[in-house]
Amino acid sequence: MVFLNLINSVALTLCVILLAVHSHQTWALGRGFLGNRKLIPSGEGLCASSITIHGYNCQELEVTTKDGYILSVQRILDGRVKVVGNVIKEPVIVQHGILVDGATWFFNSLEQNLPMILADNGFDVWVVNTRGTKYSCKHANFDASREEYWYWSWDDLVAYELPSVFDFISKETGQKIHYVGHSLGTLTALVSLAEGKWVNQVKSVALLSPIAYLKRMTTPIGAAAARSLLGESFSLLRIAEFDPKGVATTDFIHDICVKYKLNCNDLFTLVTGDNCCLNKSAYDQFFTGEPQSSSSRTLFHLAQIFRTDVLSKFDFMTSNLNVARYGQPTPPAYDLSNIPNNIPIFMSYGGPDALSDVADVQKLLNDHFQSHDKDKLTVQFIKNYAHCDDMFGTNANELVYNNVTDFFKRKF
Ligand SMILES: *[C@@H]1O[C@H](CO)[C@@H](O)[C@H](O)[C@H]1NC(C)=O
Repeated sequence: MVFLNLINSVALTLCVILLAVHSHQTWALGRGFLGNRKLIPSGEGLCASSITIHGYNCQELEVTTKDGYILSVQRILDGRVKVVGNVIKEPVIVQHGILVDGATWFFNSLEQNLPMILADNGFDVWVVNTRGTKYSCKHANFDASREEYWYWSWDDLVAYELPSVFDFISKETGQKIHYVGHSLGTLTALVSLAEGKWVNQVKSVALLSPIAYLKRMTTPIGAAAARSLLGESFSLLRIAEFDPKGVATTDFIHDICVKYKLNCNDLFTLVTGDNCCLNKSAYDQFFTGEPQSSSSRTLFHLAQIFRTDVLSKFDFMTSNLNVARYGQPTPPAYDLSNIPNNIPIFMSYGGPDALSDVADVQKLLNDHFQSHDKDKLTVQFIKNYAHCDDMFGTNANELVYNNVTDFFKRKF
């Protein structure tokens, strides 16, 4: 039991460090930042700040999930060249990963960012902001300052959030929907498909820096994190909201950096890998708006995958709680082999990516995609791409986004 606790703590500690990476600059920005949960006045959403200013027709929408979270979604209806006549556009969901929001897609110029490239290629683009992020902090019953707001893991994104988004767009457009996700947005998609969610609503899927297994991820900070103090990792877990800009998180990371003499000025690189192609100004912009909060359970859940090398639902760590939730003492497993073989899937992964590392992506492919229809699976490997290059690398338009767009246009 002690041994198990130790393993759990080690895994949690590692994961907290890994995923809290983006907070490194918050030390310079000052302590005690109380989060970013001002309600966004209308006219100040992502459409206004990043999309309509470039001449795109953008609508701010709200999608209420089946479990009561109110998400902000931006719909880009037209590219710069408006299509005249009665053309039916195919909708695309653009889903960001953990600890960031939809704004991260827009750091580069129009020609370089994914949503606008899709819009300019005639797609009807829907940019989603996951629960807990700056634009999506409302709930039908309580606000995000309440602990209950944060009682969810990525299981709930699979069970409630993504299905609600798909239903909303299906109803609105009557069309089958393309999906492109990054990082956690790939794990939730893979598990959704394995669980039979939205398989009849989706047209094709693109996974950038795909994540399923985590055990083999390599990062210089891993060993240090694994040797770190147990008590602190547990006290972090008791905080339902994981705020990467919060005092608890920044203190925790700071202590580890000091203790193990790590150069945490470059924690971003230590954790996400050596990103080849980020623009300095986009990188700076990243740290003004990001990182964003997530739930501690989500991070803990990822740590559980890291530890067990098995994809299961969130483990409440006591059989009583697991029985109460699942009717069994251990959490039920997901089986990615249930992903239908005929769903068109595009994947792009990179060499130095420290989170979506090569060995784990290869395990995903070997274990679950051997019998996928060959003409419906495209996998590309980019030698020098790390975790954030897929999201806002300056040449991602040429290396990744054009291929995503072509994949979505293919007739399967
Ligand atoms: C980097 O960003 C600056 C400021 O937005 C821009 O002027 C420059 O063209 C960008 N460089 C590349 C390679 O995208």
